[in-house]
This record gives sequence, structure tokens and C-alpha cells, in this order.
Amino acid sequence: MDPHPSVVATKLLARKKFIDTGEQFNMIATSWIQFMIHDWIDHLEDTQQVELRAPHEIASACPLKSFKFFKTKRISTGEPDMNFGFLNTRTPWWDGSVIYGNNEEGMRRVRAFKEGKLRIGGDGLLEHDEKWIPVSGDVRNCWAGFSLLQALFVREHNAVCDLLKKLYRYARLVTSAVIAKIHTIDWTVELLKTDTLLAGMRVNWYGLLGKRFKDLFGHICGPVLSGLVGLRKPNDHGVPY
Ligand code: HEM
Repeated sequence: MDPHPSVVATKLLARKKFIDTGEQFNMIATSWIQFMIHDWIDHLEDTQQVELRAPHEIASACPLKSFKFFKTKRISTGEPDMNFGFLNTRTPWWDGSVIYGNNEEGMRRVRAFKEGKLRIGGDGLLEHDEKWIPVSGDVRNCWAGFSLLQALFVREHNAVCDLLKKLYRYARLVTSAVIAKIHTIDWTVELLKTDTLLAGMRVNWYGLLGKRFKDLFGHICGPVLSGLVGLRKPNDHGVPY
């Protein structure tokens, strides 16, 4: 403690006048790095408080005369050459816990349990609980810049859910078409095995001009002749897939 850390901070490190960093750094950058810290680390606190007092040689320069905080909790590891360590209360892996939560209870709190989505307010910002604490993965020491980033990534998550839902409908369209095709030109013609039925079913599927024509020329005819080769634009009758 000699020299005292606050003497070093005040005499050596303190910025005496404002230095503009130009366009390199802004408030979004500080919001971002706090957002990341809240994904990675927070130490476990002990119940014992410690107090740092500014030594009198810098007392006039330091606005904070006394600073109280809880000690970092030591955890016994049981290993002979390293018998104590410290615990991280956040999941240290880069797992998005800042929006998803650090444990089962935290993860349940943020989920909407609908279409895989996360909870978000109608105004596009985080929801609050009855004490006006924002509902998100990790809300310790939060402020507007930080909460906005959480809301942004909750909305990103929900947008991914919407995209996957569209993908689900597209996959459904393709798969149900394959089923319909198998039933029309494989199953039915095998069951009612006549040349007339084979021709009829293939017209049903490929149009009057047949598969070869359709493969070569596609949907060249307008809606009037659609029975010849099928429709240029599919008519899905308003079903969502
Ligand atoms: C308005 C903005 C912020 C507020 C109110 C805030 C507040 C706090 C508080 C109260 C603590 C806990 C101190 C303790 O445990 O005794 C803390 C821890 C911490 N903050 Fe911030 N902070 C802010 C922004 C930032 C930024 C921008 C950074 C990164 C450059 C940051 C990095 C950290 C780190 C590394 C810790 C220690 C985590 C640990 O305990 O392991 N904070 N912050």
C-alpha cells in the first residue's frame, strides 16, 4: 500500500483536462464494452466490507474521501499448491448470457415461451418488473445505453425466430408438394394400372403438353392455357405456406 493506490491514481493517472478522442470513441463504445463485461465476468462478493480512505496528501484533489465495498469472496479449491480461488457469478463462456441469463431461473424470466421468442415491450424496449427493474439476462448496474443494446439483441433474436418460421413454411410447401406428387403420379397410377389413368394423372401434374414440354419451355402460356402446362404464378389460395 505504499505508495497508496489512490496517490498513484491521482498523481500519475488522473486526467487533468478533457482530451477529445475525435471520432474514434463514443458512448456506444462504452455501452458495448459494458454489455460484453456483463456477458463474461462478475466476482462473487463476501459479506465483509472494506473501506478505502484517501490519504491526506491527496485529500484535496480527490472528491471521494472514502470508498466502501465488499471483499471478493475466496473459495477453497482443496488443491495443495493453490488452496483458494475466486468464483465468477456470470457464465464466462461467450454465450449471450447478458440477454439470455446466467441460470435456469434467469433464462425462464426472459423467455416469452411463444415461437422461441424472448420478452420485449410493445415499444421495442425491455419490459420492466413491478419494481421497474428491466427484464433481461443480466441487469446489474444498467443504464440507458446498456439497456438499449440488450433490447436490440432481443429483437435480433426474435427476428431470427421469424426467419426460421418462414423457413418452416417454405420447407412445408416443398415437402407437402413431394407428398402430393408421389400420390398423384406414383401411387394412383400403380393402384389403377391403366394407360388412360397414367396419362390422366400425368396431365394432372405436368399439364396437357407433358413433362418434357414443361421442362423444356416452362410456363410459357398465359392463364387461359394454364391447363396445358400449369400456372405461371402459383395460386396458393391464401394458405400461409
Ligand atoms: C453507467 C455505466 C456503468 C456502471 C453504473 C457500472 C457500475 C459497476 C458496478 C457498481 C460494479 C460492481 C462493483 C463491485 O462489485 O463492487 C461494476 C463492475 C465492473 N464494471 Fe462497471 N459500470 C459501468 C460501466 C462499465 C464499463 C464501460 C466497463 C468496461 C470498460 C465496466 C467494467 C466493469 C468491470 C470489469 C467490473 C468488475 C466485474 C467483476 O466484479 O468481476 N463497467 N460496474
